[in-house]
Amino acid sequence: MSKQKLAVIILAAGRGLRMKTAMPKVLHTVAGRPMIDYVLGAAATLDPDQLVAVVGPGMDAYADAFAPARLAVQAEPRGTGDAVMAARPVIGDFDGDVLVLFGDTPLLRPETLEAVLGALNDGSGAAVAVLGFRPADPGQYGRLITDDAGKLEAIVESGDATVEQKAIGLCNSGLMAVQGRHLFGLLEGLSPDNAKGEFYLTDIVAAARAQGLTCAAVEGGNEEPMGVNSRAEQAVAEAAMQLRLRAEAMAAGATLIDPTTVYFSFDTRLGHDVVIGPNVFFGPGVTIGDGVEIRAFCHIDGAEIGDGAIIGPFARLRPGARIGEAVQIGNYVEIKAAVIEPGAKINHLSYVGDSRVGAGSNIGAGTITCNYDGFDKHVTDIGAGVFVGSNTALVAPVIVGDGAVIGAGSVITGDVAPDALVVARAKQAEVPGGGASYRARKGGAKPPSAARGKAQAQVAGGGKRRGKS
Ligand code: UD1
Ligand code: MG
Repeated sequence: MSKQKLAVIILAAGRGLRMKTAMPKVLHTVAGRPMIDYVLGAAATLDPDQLVAVVGPGMDAYADAFAPARLAVQAEPRGTGDAVMAARPVIGDFDGDVLVLFGDTPLLRPETLEAVLGALNDGSGAAVAVLGFRPADPGQYGRLITDDAGKLEAIVESGDATVEQKAIGLCNSGLMAVQGRHLFGLLEGLSPDNAKGEFYLTDIVAAARAQGLTCAAVEGGNEEPMGVNSRAEQAVAEAAMQLRLRAEAMAAGATLIDPTTVYFSFDTRLGHDVVIGPNVFFGPGVTIGDGVEIRAFCHIDGAEIGDGAIIGPFARLRPGARIGEAVQIGNYVEIKAAVIEPGAKINHLSYVGDSRVGAGSNIGAGTITCNYDGFDKHVTDIGAGVFVGSNTALVAPVIVGDGAVIGAGSVITGDVAPDALVVARAKQAEVPGGGASYRARKGGAKPPSAARGKAQAQVAGGGKRRGKS
């Protein structure tokens, strides 16, 4: 197939009223990616000579989100035919193939676009080719009217269809390819004399046939043409996309212990032999190395995880977390904008943000990097081979040298020299017999064993009464 020139027009001027949103509908996400990006991405695989998105008034404020498409503004939503016409000043007279897509169809695959374009160029001489599908409920979709040879004669919108036409199962997906030299001439002939009072793009099929041109229907699967019009449909698209992403992950060699509970983003990158436990969520921008184990109930986004690391259960990795090889990040540990160098362990109940943890260091349970002073963020730099005792607060900015040891419960406000031992907490004081005299002052005679027995009785009795404290 010789490469025709190609223009892609993406329709996105609809107001998306059913989404009940202040934002353009097509900027809502599926698997962490705006819906329009899927369509732009699929279009980009065809390397089009022109790429135009038709948007409504005011939506040009979001031009960046539509890049690299150029924008054409449709003044009023007067129908899909009018919307394509709005692209005319941008693409001009175009003597190649024109592909019309809808911006709210995140499940479309590039191969499907190629199949429809192929029908324009397969020697049948089709001037218009349409992607058809057979939804379980044809409902509001336009119906494809074909002749005995299967050639497309017309598309009839549901609201304008006769009872016989409504019984047709083959529906219009909305995806259409048109020979550019015919497109705008056919659109000029449209009339809004129909149930919705709109200029229907679909009417160009009958118009083309009336001029003796050939039209083709290409039948595809049910899932891809799905358009998202409401939050409920967004959730259906999300579920379909997650099924795809899970299947791809497993096909590429990842073990998902309970696939239905693992949520990927469109760009999650997995190495070989990764094991992912139940209830794990990946936001955008995650890269995972080989042999990594992500245990149950982790929430991970914008993080890079090196080979052989073990994460979780119940860990949170936030953007800028760079986890080195064979690092262990355990229960209830949160890492943000921090480099954790190979072999380091942060196994329990810690927050490490705006930090470096050097290779092989061990960060004890409950360690907190105090990175925020209420105004600014500061860095904690922990060297290699450091031992940080449990419940340590590192008040940034602070540097802990290689090989240092920090005693449990310390509040570290100054730099620690390499190989030093530091304890920064109130010294333990002991008053011999002080416990006994304390009890005497309180009225005496409550031996510790009797008090314990009473507390146990309360617990056994359902713990409803609370002891004095
Ligand atoms: C359209 C098709 C129908 C097909 C269905 C598939 C027409 C007349 N009908 O119907 O045959 O079965 O899609 O989902 O084409 N848009 C604009 N400007 C407008 C109107 C629409 O940009 O003035 C955009 C919308 O943002 C959307 C797309 O065009 O991306 C489709 O519009 P929509 O109103 O959803 O068309 P349907 O009535 O669903
Ligand atoms: Mg629609």
